[in-house]
Order: sequence, then structure tokens, then C-alpha cells
Amino acid sequence: MAQTPSSSLDHLSESELTARLDQEVLPKHVAVIMDGNGRWAELRGLPRIAGHREGINSVREMIAQCLELGIRALTIYAFSQENWNRPSQEINALMGLLEHYLSTERDKLIEQQVRFRAVGRLELLPESAQHWVRTTEKETAHLDKMALTVALSYGGRAEIVDAVKGLLRDAASGTVQPDRIDEALFDRYLSTHPLPDPDLLIRTSGETRISNFLLWQLAYTELYFTPTLWPDFRRREFLLALIEYQRRERRFGRVLSTVSS
Ligand code: FPP
Repeated sequence: MAQTPSSSLDHLSESELTARLDQEVLPKHVAVIMDGNGRWAELRGLPRIAGHREGINSVREMIAQCLELGIRALTIYAFSQENWNRPSQEINALMGLLEHYLSTERDKLIEQQVRFRAVGRLELLPESAQHWVRTTEKETAHLDKMALTVALSYGGRAEIVDAVKGLLRDAASGTVQPDRIDEALFDRYLSTHPLPDPDLLIRTSGETRISNFLLWQLAYTELYFTPTLWPDFRRREFLLALIEYQRRERRFGRVLSTVSS
């Protein structure tokens, strides 16, 4: 059962929290459902887009912190399939923010040696957003310090359906033998391949659902839920999540004595 961190850490500063972190037991891959931007803005009497804009600052900080800590993969849920049901004004503003982020932040990502990839039904994005996604993917394709994956127009069930379609096509053409299909082979048909599964999923804003995010990949992931709204989820909050992650027994359904690491 997911837990929020103990209040015993509440009084500690960022450097004290960093000192508590075991550098040897950090997640290799962190996934994030960035929730609560709208509420953050509404609480301040601001338009919802102001919350999304502030949320980008949290994204920037998390990328920097992952790089500092040596966390090699970060996957963020920026726009779900269900988000297409939002008012068109908000959708347009979000797409505008995405384009602005990619067009202005590309050089920084390159300097940081971050490889950018987008997953989801990207063909549904406006042409100009697709352009910036493709350009950023191409210009960062050779970088390998960290993999930043942004889920856009993404749904976990749709991803699984697409993987099944790919498998069936290859089975029909004879490149895949149905008897040989196993979990590792199936994984190769998912859009996140070749990333390892996330070790830690963070969801902000007090919601405790997976909301169709990385359904296959989260099978053994530690889930961390916090009431903090995404624009307020900054370095200290991330450290609390990492400390909580390190506290948990990672048993993968086996008995602890048989787990080697
Ligand atoms: C959920 O908050 C957040 C989103 C739907 C969008 C997240 C997008 C960003 C942080 C900016 C774009 C990201 C990049 C990488 C450019 P919500 O609107 O559902 O908040 P609420 O639940 O309080 O209404």
C-alpha cells in the first residue's frame, strides 16, 4: 500500500534530506503523473493555464535533480487521451505551452545531454506540435545521460492495443512465432521500449489512481501519492518521495531473503 512520507522528515532541510538519501538505492526510472495544476491556479484566482505554466518549472527542476542524482530515466504524463475532452481553449493553451517548451528548451536539453522522446497518439497533436516533437527527438537522439519521455495524447490501454496489432502483423508475416511470444517479446512492441519499467511512480494532488498511465510497465512499480499539487512539487518533495521509495521492501512477490539487490 502506498504511503506518504513520515512527518518526522517535515522539519528537515533540502541538504539534510539529501544526506539521508542512499545514493546506491536510487530508482533507475521515475514516472510522474503531474496532477493539480488547475487547482494550484484556482487557489490563487489565476486562469488554469497559469498552473500548467508553473508546472513546467517543476518539470525543469525535476530534470535537473534527476541529472544531479544520476537517475537515468524520467517519464512524465503531460497529456492523456482523456484530456482531449477539456475545453478547446485549455487544450490550445496546453499545446502552445508544449511547443514553447520544446522550441525554447531544446538547447538546454542538448546541453544537459538529455534524450527526448514522446509516446502516445502523436498523430492527433496539432501539426506544429508534431513538428517540435519530431525536431526535438531528432536533435537529442544521440544523447544518453538521461532519457526524458513525455506521454502526449497517451493512453495505456491504447498502447497495449497498438502493441497487440504490431505483434499480430509480425505473426501474420511470419517474423514472430506465436509460441515464442513472452513478456519480454511483448515489451518490445510497447512505445516505451527499450526503457526499463519505472521503479517509482509519483502522483501529485491527492488522487490515488493510475489513470491509464503505463498500465503494463507499472506492474511492479512502487506507487507514491502526495497531496502536494504539481506546481508545488519541487526539490524537497522529490527527495521525500525518494526517501520513501528507499524505505520500502522491494520484494517483487518473492520472499525477501531471495532478493539479491
Ligand atoms: C494535470 O493538472 C496536468 C495536466 C493535464 C498537464 C500537465 C502539463 C504540464 C505540466 C505542462 C506541459 C508539460 C511539458 C513537458 C511541456 P490538472 O489540470 O488536471 O489539474 P487539476 O486536477 O487541479 O484540475
